[in-house]
Order: sequence, then structure tokens, then C-alpha cells
Amino acid sequence: MQDTSFAIHPGKEKKLKDQTFHDIGNLKQFIQRDQVFAFQTEKAYVNVIFYRDDIVRVVMNPHQEPELNNSFAVEQGPDSVDVKVDEQEDMLVLSSEHVKVQVCKEPFRINVLDTKGYSLVSDATQGMGFNNDGHVICFKKAYQDDHYYGFGEKTGFLDKRGEKYTMWNSDVYAPHNPETDPLYESIPFFMTLRRGRATGIFFDNTFKTTFNMKVEQSETYSFEAEGGQLDYYVCAGPSPKEVLEQYTALTGRMPLPPKWGLGYHQSRYSYKTDAEVRELVQNFVDKEIPVDAIHLDIHYMNGYRVFTFDQNRFPDPKKLIMDMKEKGIRAVPIVDPGVKVDAEYSIYQEGITNDLFCKYLEGNIFFGDVWPGKSAFPDFTKESTRKWWGESHKFYTELGIEGIWNDMNEPAVFNETKTMDVDVMHDNDGNPKTHRELHNVYGYLMGEATYNGMKELLDQKRPFLLTRAGYAGVQKYAAVWTGDNRSFWEHLEMAIPMCLNLGVSGVAYSGPDVGGFAHDTNGELLTRWTQFGTFTPFFRNHSAIEFVYQEPWQFGEKYEAIIKKYIQLRYKWLPHIYKLFKEASETGVPVMRPLFMEYPDDEETYQLSDQFLIGSNVIIAPVLRPGVKDRIVYLPKGIWHDYWTGETYEGGQRIIAHAELDHLPIYVKSGAILPEANVKPSTAHDVDEMTIHIYPSENGALYELYDDDGETFNYQQKEYFTLELNVKQSSDAVLIDSKVSHQQYKPKWKEIAYKIHGVSSKDTIIYNGENISDVKVQEGYVSFKKAW
Ligand code: GLC
Repeated sequence: MQDTSFAIHPGKEKKLKDQTFHDIGNLKQFIQRDQVFAFQTEKAYVNVIFYRDDIVRVVMNPHQEPELNNSFAVEQGPDSVDVKVDEQEDMLVLSSEHVKVQVCKEPFRINVLDTKGYSLVSDATQGMGFNNDGHVICFKKAYQDDHYYGFGEKTGFLDKRGEKYTMWNSDVYAPHNPETDPLYESIPFFMTLRRGRATGIFFDNTFKTTFNMKVEQSETYSFEAEGGQLDYYVCAGPSPKEVLEQYTALTGRMPLPPKWGLGYHQSRYSYKTDAEVRELVQNFVDKEIPVDAIHLDIHYMNGYRVFTFDQNRFPDPKKLIMDMKEKGIRAVPIVDPGVKVDAEYSIYQEGITNDLFCKYLEGNIFFGDVWPGKSAFPDFTKESTRKWWGESHKFYTELGIEGIWNDMNEPAVFNETKTMDVDVMHDNDGNPKTHRELHNVYGYLMGEATYNGMKELLDQKRPFLLTRAGYAGVQKYAAVWTGDNRSFWEHLEMAIPMCLNLGVSGVAYSGPDVGGFAHDTNGELLTRWTQFGTFTPFFRNHSAIEFVYQEPWQFGEKYEAIIKKYIQLRYKWLPHIYKLFKEASETGVPVMRPLFMEYPDDEETYQLSDQFLIGSNVIIAPVLRPGVKDRIVYLPKGIWHDYWTGETYEGGQRIIAHAELDHLPIYVKSGAILPEANVKPSTAHDVDEMTIHIYPSENGALYELYDDDGETFNYQQKEYFTLELNVKQSSDAVLIDSKVSHQQYKPKWKEIAYKIHGVSSKDTIIYNGENISDVKVQEGYVSFKKAW
């Protein structure tokens, strides 16, 4: 070819990847258009918008005026915020009631400060920029005492300082070790905690993004995307809980899940036949181990065709599901996105006929191999696909199914890249974009389609949805489980910070596969893992094909008895856990919390990866190693009660908790009030005995007990029950004020057994003004009963 023009083909030049960083330069122009402060610099366009007094959005586009209505996660536009503009010689200062944004002119830099001038988020020496490959990047100042949390679902310990993370939803079967990154979820959000002061940054970009928090040398961190705009929000805090409230005001909050979703779930890849499922259910019934859901993994289907049951193995799914429901147990089938290529399969036919699958620009469908073999993938970025997919769940709801498990929705494909080709186009409701840009929202949109479809079909009953993949805001649709972990003690340990950081990232409803998915578990590991699972927001035991079965009874009576005790404990704690879910649905503050969330001024809590809080005042400290019977527990300031023995400890110290195999260390803080239900076989059976534990404190104690029907959205129409408790303690008396504050729903329990801890028979107990003389005195507490 030397004699053709090919000899001078430009492609023959040595191609250099152009990583040169272009700073966006100095400010050239500024105008204000309503809420939008629009800046033009030498090389880019930047918009600053106050979403609220305490939330600021910054968008940089190197090529044109920023696009502002392009978010998948943020559904609402900005509030109208009163912003003062002060133009100075070298900067503009935009101030709301809570934050000041300094826009420096030469070079153009953005610093967000609180009203006292304390830096929240400041550009580093290098600020915003881009390179010729379309990457956008932002460098921020890192401080010596910065700690970073969140980033969604990541391996490793709690504090992410010194780490570098990528967001690209990936199916990773193994190994999930501290450098395995990324995993299934992409939540480009993190929180900085610096000497008690918290700030959040949400980088709303669906391309592959990278967060470089290796700050030690450079005193700089950065976030970068492979394309799109540099589009981020600063959530000004000041407390970690306020950051969560701000972040979830943007990306949405979890609606209340059905109560049954909070019970114990049993799963296996796979319970393969009707008979196997029936036997499993009967075992739970016979052994009196509570259970709310059995998950059906891929073998329930006919040749892995979603929206089918295998007729030989499950000849009458409707009957099976009805029989299970009679026992108070639900079935949750897995639904993957891959649709088997089969001309005689209605879902495939509909997808083709109505043009609902992902295609290349040229019009040919993208096919990839997953469980069913060659498959097509619904284009969830298209309204008609979401609607079709949602409506197709009629197949399940008509069988009596109320919960769905979405898996492989990164999407996972069995090929080298593990996913769809990045140049596949997505319709994106008429604004086509490549998979390279929308990969990270594929699972999120599948969740949206499924949740909304189920909600519609269930006639306003709350659907349960579990997902593996997601993007920021996934909490609106689904619970998240942390994918294919292994039956390693290390993975039990890792699950704590992973779920805590998911909580910091807005996902209040998460949990790992209890017992570990792959690898063979054993009695001790399953027992310790179940103890931990009792207090994870999502509680499911799941194990993989070819490994040992790990139902609660598989390792002999000794382990079965302890595992049963802890599953029962979950049901006892459900009223409190449910109340915490209600709180999460209103504020975004997670159910399972890192200690720093309640004690942001206590630096001892910043690195605590092996213990956590349930709500604000209960510490759970699982045992995480084989053979270990003692562990260190950090108790922050305050008085703490051993949940089991009543022994009290002064906080602000580490204690050694002795924990034989049947013992999970739990500490309750003075000032806590905790409701407890009587144990039932599942949440389908009404709680009819209510106990309220009171741990009085001189600082007082407040609690609002919450209950509703647990399965409809009627609570949104105020059909719920609340009981307010206000407890005061003096040197020799405890005063309890109890008042039903809302009663548009009536719980089944008629009276409450109060148990007051840490007091003696000498203390006077006054309940709603009445001196209670007939208290029962037990070791560590006194008790009495009252009708509500
Ligand atoms: C994936 C899921 C796992 C499931 C398996 C078979 O590996 O992560 O939970 O059991 O697929 O469907």
C-alpha cells in the first residue's frame, strides 16, 4: 500500500493520549440569570446555583453553557434562595443564610465557606479543568485532619482517606479484597469530616468517574469523569446527619419498605423445585424459626427466561406462593435484565416488535451472553421500555408475588469487558447517548421501572425490591445487597464498613449475604454472621451453588439454637428498626450508623470499622474472628448499659466485652427508649405484646413509637399510630409521660409492659402523674404494665 495515499495516513503518526490538563483560566464575564450565576472563563463556562441555603451546585462545561436539566438522580430543581452578591476587586462573593461562595477571578477558583469563614470545600492550586480526551476534573484542597466517608459500596475500612476509587458498575464474583474496585454500585458521593464539621460532595456525572483521595503528599484530592460536565453539589452540613438530609433532599429518600421486607430472608442459588421450597418452608415452621421471605434464584425459570416458571420443577407456582403466604412467608424471585433470544418467547418477541432493546447506532441489537445464553437487553433509558418492563411484572403479581430481586443489572455480560459495549446507544427518551455515558444508571433505571411497575400492579401495596447495581438515588427504589461475598471472616468484617458507607451514601437499606455467598461457610462463622445480620437493615442468608447449604440448621443443634435466638431477636427489635426506617424515609439518616454520625466531635470514632450504631443510642459490636471470645468495644461519652446483663459503664473508654459464641455485645445508652415486640413466626402475624425498655437519664429521654399497617402507602395519608414518651429522672424518681399522639391506625397490642432499667425498688415511678406502687422488681430493672 506504500504507493497509495495510505502512506501518509494521519493514523500512522504515533498517537499520544492527550492527558494535558487545561485549567479553565481567568474569569472573563459574569451575569446572573434568575437563580443561575453564569460565569465565562477563558476556557469554560461555569454556573453556580443555590439549591437551598445549604446546598450549592457548581457546573463546568468546557465547550458551551452548562446543561442543567440532565440529572437522573436529582429530580427537583432549585428552591428560590435569597442570595446576596458582593463584587470585590479579586472575587465575587455569593452569600446565602448558610454559605458563602467565593468566586476568585484570576485564576478562576471556587471556595465554599460557612458564614463564619470556615472553609468547607475549596479549589486547590489547580482548580477545575479538562483534557483533550473529554475528561473533566476538579482539584480540591485536602486538610491534615480530613476524613472521607461514603463513595457507595466499597471494600476496605470506614475512613477512605488515602484511597482512590472508580465508579463503574461491575460484576465482580471475586475477590472483594481491599483493592477490588469498582464493585456493583456507583454512588459518586462522599462526606468530609474535619474536626466535627461535615460537608458532602455529590459529583453527578454518570460516566466513569474517579475519586483520588490519596491526599498525604499533595494535600489535594480530585474527582474526575471520562466525559460530560463537571457537575457537583456541595452539601454544607454542618453535622453528618445534616449532610445526609441535604444529599437525600437532592437524590431522594427511601419510601417505607413493607414490614415483611425487614424480617429474615432465606435464599440459595438455588432452591430448585417446588418440593425443595416446601420442605424449606416446613423446616422453618417446624423449627419455629421466624422467616418472612424465601428467594427464588435463577433455577425457578424456564431456561433462565425472565417472567417464566419452569413447568416441570414448579408445576403450580400460584399454589406454592399461596401456600407459603398462608404461613406468612413471601417468595422473592430473581429477575435479571438479559432476555433470552428465542423467537417463541413472548418477552423477547415484545421487545423486538416494540423496539425496546439496546441497539448500536446502526440499528442492530446488542446481544450478549448471560445465564440464558445469547440475550438482548432492555433499554431502560426509554420510557416505553420502563413501562413495558414494569407492566410485565403482572406475571409475578398475578401469582401473588410482592417482591422482586434484580441482579446482573450493571449490566453484567459474560465477555471480556464484563458489560455491554460502550458504543451501544441508549435512546434516553429521545436524547440518545452511548452506553459509555449511561452505563452507571442502567441498574438504577431498571430499579425505577420495576419498583414503579410493581407499585402500580400491587394496587398501592408497598413492593419490596432488592438490587445489585445502582447509582446515586437508588434508595428511592430498592434495597441493596453487597453482591458476591465469600464465607470468609474477612468478608464478615468488611461488611460493616461497607454497609456503613452505603448508609453514608444515602442507602439506608442494605446488607451482605449472611454466611457468605461463595466458599463453604461453617457453624461458627454463620452464627457470628447471623448475629451481625440481626442488625443490618437488610437481613438475608444466601449461598452459592456448589457450596454447602447454610440454612440455620445445617451445622447442628448447637449452632441452630443460637442462630434461632438471633433471628428471633431481629423480630423483637423490629418495632425499633421499623421506626428507624421511618426516620430514614423522612430524613435520609441511615438505620445503621457509623459512630461518628452521632459523635462527630469525638475523633476516636472516626476510624471505627468494627462496631456500629443502630439508630442513635445502641452500639452493636459483633465478633469478627474465629475462636475469639473477647473483643474491645469503644463506648463514647455517656452511661452505657450492657443490653444482656444490665451492667453499666462510663463512656469515653474502651472496654473488653466477653462474648461466648451465643453472645453478641450490645450496649444501650442512658436516655434510650426501645420498644420490643413478642416474637412471631413472621411479620404476617400481628405483634400482640409490646414492651418498652426505658434507660432513664438525668438528661431526659424522648421517643416516638411509630406503627402502621406495614404494607400499604396509607401511612402517607396519616393512617398511622404514634405514642410519645417523655421520661425524666431525678435522684430518686422516674417520671414517665406517655401519650398517644396520633391514632389513625390501631396496633393489635392493647397494653405496654414498661421495663425501667438501672433503677431499684426504692425509686419512685410516676406514670402520667400516677405513683406506680405495684412494680415488679427484677435484676437490673423494674416493670409494670399499662394500657395505652
Ligand atoms: C449472581 C448474584 C448471586 C446469584 C447468582 C445466580 O452471582 O450476585 O446472588 O445467586 O448470580 O443468580
